[in-house]
Amino acid sequence: MNELTVPVITIDGPSGAGKGTVAQMLARELSWNILDSGALYRTLAYFMKEHQISLAEFEVRADEIKDNFKVSFDPGIPGEPVKVIFNDEDITASVRTEEMAKLTSTLAAEPVIRDFIKPCQRDFMIPPGLIADGRDMGTVIFSDAKYKIFLTASAEERAKRRQSQLKRQGLEVNMRSLLQELEERDRKDTEREHSPLVPAEDSVVIDTSNLNPEGVVKKIKTYL
Ligand code: C5P
Repeated sequence: MNELTVPVITIDGPSGAGKGTVAQMLARELSWNILDSGALYRTLAYFMKEHQISLAEFEVRADEIKDNFKVSFDPGIPGEPVKVIFNDEDITASVRTEEMAKLTSTLAAEPVIRDFIKPCQRDFMIPPGLIADGRDMGTVIFSDAKYKIFLTASAEERAKRRQSQLKRQGLEVNMRSLLQELEERDRKDTEREHSPLVPAEDSVVIDTSNLNPEGVVKKIKTYL
């Protein structure tokens, strides 16, 4: 792996732990670049679905997929999710659904998908710095980063947050099924063989269950 040329702060953790909001706040405050790696996986899942590309044919079509896979992020407005721009089109609403999350989690367990995404992620490392949000940012992709955060929170609290987030997007979801889906996705992400969701040994773990985003950012700044 190339050595880091720009500072990177990694923020890992399960869905709903507050990674997105905190990454967005830090990126805006520091004027650093942002990598929402979950959204990168979601975009690839969306692209494969749209173009009916199966996992079996992924490898042979990898070059063609790479040529068409131009993703960027806009930290957007606080309180709203980071915007996902794919080939100049804002696809945020299409990729940030629970259906897409489920499909993404299945695809993300596949080494061929992870190998494809890996260099795309390192490309986001541009000056003056990068905030990288995901599941394996501190353990695998930016294992050489100096600052590593792992956010966690109770499943109930995370499901509640997810529900309000989806509500703001105009989507009504049942709390019970949301909690079930979230736990199932956590299980898949944590137990998978490749790049499982675990805190990096040298990360600072913050439980955000009883903290608001400002409180979490304050703790991170103390650590930095
Ligand atoms: O963070 P988000 O909910 O958008 O991530 C969607 C899914 O993408 C996760 O459940 C996980 O399976 C996958 N993912 C991953 N590695 C990352 C980021 C996301 O496997 N670094």
